[in-house]
Amino acid sequence: MSQDNYKKIEKQIDTIPPLSPVTSQLLAIISEPNHSLQDVVTVVETDAILTSIVLKTVNSAAYGLKDTVETAVDAIRFLGDSMVAGLAIKREKSGISDAPLTGYLADADASWAHSLKTAIAARYFAKRFSNGKVREGVAYTAGILHDIGKSLLSSLLPAESFQSINDSEFLELEEQLLGINHAEAGFMLAYKWSLPKAMCEVIRWHHEPSKAAEEFKTLAYIIHLADITAMMSGSGTGIDTMRHSIDSEYKKFITVDERGLELAFFEIQLEYNQTFKAIQACFDSSKSVKSEEVK
Ligand SMILES: [Fe+2]
Ligand SMILES: [Fe+2]
Repeated sequence: MSQDNYKKIEKQIDTIPPLSPVTSQLLAIISEPNHSLQDVVTVVETDAILTSIVLKTVNSAAYGLKDTVETAVDAIRFLGDSMVAGLAIKREKSGISDAPLTGYLADADASWAHSLKTAIAARYFAKRFSNGKVREGVAYTAGILHDIGKSLLSSLLPAESFQSINDSEFLELEEQLLGINHAEAGFMLAYKWSLPKAMCEVIRWHHEPSKAAEEFKTLAYIIHLADITAMMSGSGTGIDTMRHSIDSEYKKFITVDERGLELAFFEIQLEYNQTFKAIQACFDSSKSVKSEEVK
C-alpha cells in the first residue's frame, strides 16, 4: 500500500468516533452463545434514546400491530436481539452502516439498504442452511457491519475512473488505485474498535471467504452469499454492484439448492421491505425530533 494512502486511512480511522459503550456491549452479548433476552433488555434500558428507537420501530405502521407495545422487553422480544443491535449500530454517530459513499456513487439510503438487506439475508441463511453452525444474531450483525471499510475508502476513490474500467474484479481495482481494498480497511477499523473476533474475521474476508479461519468459515460464506443476494436483488452500493464474483464453494458450507435460493430471494425481499419501512419511519421521526431540539 502506498505510504500516503495508508496514512490517510489510519488518520480517518482515528477521526471516526468510537462505538458507543451500549453498541459495543450489545455486539459482545450477541456473540455469546448463552446470552438471554434479559441481558439485551438490561443494556438497552440504560439508554433512553435507544429504548425510544426500539419502541418507535416496533410500533411503526409497517408492523401493523393491533396493540401498542409499551415496554422495552416486549419490543425486543418482538424485534429480536439482533435487530436491536442493528438499530444501535444505525444510531451510531460514525454512520458506519449508512454513510453516504460518494466514491462508490451510493447515497446514505443505498448504503443502509445494502447493509440491512445483507443482514436479513445472512440471518435467513444462518437459520435455515447453516446446520446450526452460525447463530442468527451473529449473522445479522455481521451483515450490518460487513462493508464498514467502504466509508474509509470512499473519499479516496476516483469514482469516474472506476466507471470506465468494467472488466476487473472490484477488490483488485481498489487495491490497484489505493493499495488496499475495503474489506482490509474495514478489518483495520473493526480491530481498532475491538469488535468480536467473528466480526473482524468476516469483515476482512467477506469477498474471499475461503481465506477465513476455519472456525469462522461458514459465517464468512454466509455473509458472502448474503452480500451477493443483496446486490442481485437491487440493493448494491453504487459502482461496485455485481462486480464481485461469487465463490461457488459456498455450497459446501450453506446447504441450499437452486429452488431454496429462489424462495430465499422472495422471502428476504418481503422481510426487507417491511423492516426497511419500520426503521425508516422511526429514524425519520428521530431526525425531526433532533432538529426540534436544535431550535
Ligand atoms: Fe464488500
Ligand atoms: Fe457488501
